[in-house]
Amino acid sequence: MKYDLIVEGGIDLGIDLGTRNIVMYRKGRGIILNEASLIASRRNTGKVLAVGNAASVMHEKVHPGILTTRPIQNGVIADYEATIKLIKGLFNRIKPRFSLGIRRLFISIPLGITEVEKRAVYDAAAHIGARDIYLVSKPIAAAIGAGLNPFEPTGNMIVDIGAGTTEIAIISLGGIVSGESLGIAGNEINDIIARHIRDEKNLAISEHATENIKKNIGSVFTTDRNERLTISGLNIESGLPENLDIDSEMIRRIIALPLGQIIAAIKKNIEELVVKPDLAVDILQNGIYLTGGGALLKGLDKKIHTETNLGVNIPDEPLTAVANGIGIILEDLAKYRSVLDSRKHKRHRIVNNSENSETLLNGLGQENGNGGKYPRELELSDSRQTG
Ligand SMILES: Nc1ncnc2c1ncn2[C@@H]1O[C@H](COP(=O)(O)OP(=O)(O)O)[C@@H](O)[C@H]1O
Ligand SMILES: [Mg+2]
Repeated sequence: MKYDLIVEGGIDLGIDLGTRNIVMYRKGRGIILNEASLIASRRNTGKVLAVGNAASVMHEKVHPGILTTRPIQNGVIADYEATIKLIKGLFNRIKPRFSLGIRRLFISIPLGITEVEKRAVYDAAAHIGARDIYLVSKPIAAAIGAGLNPFEPTGNMIVDIGAGTTEIAIISLGGIVSGESLGIAGNEINDIIARHIRDEKNLAISEHATENIKKNIGSVFTTDRNERLTISGLNIESGLPENLDIDSEMIRRIIALPLGQIIAAIKKNIEELVVKPDLAVDILQNGIYLTGGGALLKGLDKKIHTETNLGVNIPDEPLTAVANGIGIILEDLAKYRSVLDSRKHKRHRIVNNSENSETLLNGLGQENGNGGKYPRELELSDSRQTG
């Protein structure tokens, strides 16, 4: 292992390690990188050919010698080696701008992450040379990035719809009161669109084309304007390329199922506040905060409002809300330390940072054995209570 980036007095860096996008925030500078979490390598030797957006160009271009992979799945490291290569490759691109190395590294992690998955994030951070490593739960970072003060004695509901997971959390007094990491998000919406067009229209379309459909004519609300789009793909019966005209109405019907599941999960998390009605009242007053790329789906805010009767807020830049939140945290570490889980590299000491009240936790991956769903009554667990 090489720790070539360890130097006293290095920079402080935040990473939103997303399934689809990696966003980096540098202290004092803001967001310095926003790229696809994708890596292209040679199939036989494993040699890295491109990382990030440069790898997107090679993605889906069927070349027998080139393999493109997304090493982050559902917000967690699915392929450790490839993740290291991806982050290092992206670092190398920005490194000339900070030859000092990394002093503190802040990384967001999804709710319901297991201890093993969390350790992989710590190890990866250490591997790339970070000295002090801090993890923050995605909904907390998203809340802060959306302009909320997580320490206020009021309940706020965050729904971060990324590519792999939809993170639903109710935050109050600096901790996550309850929440859920739902495995239905942007990728699931893409999958159902591509599957439907293949099954019903005999047309195989690329991931890129699917993404285009969703972003350009995708909408969820029946009164949204019906827009048309001509897509191209391969007819699986004739084996020939073909164009097909589609419209918003058709896409709306197709994506109704996963969207219904996301909205049902939001409702269920609100209903479960029956034992904490004050929090439900707070959410009625404050509205739901929608972040992540999924928040950009046309009409989703209106749809959620219609189905829940709650206001829906979307920050100006939902795709970078988590990274912006990490940025706010690392710019004022003294204020936000209690929402973080931290380790010093090499000494592997777990810093006791529990300043939360007893029934709250900072959402940092306590094992719950419950499919990522937190129990109603949460208690601070494991190492953070000792010491
Ligand atoms: N305009 C848009 N409309 C609908 N979905 C979008 C839009 N822009 C991005 N997305 C979706 O948002 C997801 C990426 O959001 P992001 O928060 O970056 O995910 P992650 O953090 O999991 O990488 C993708 O599934 C993408 O298709
Ligand atoms: Mg995200």
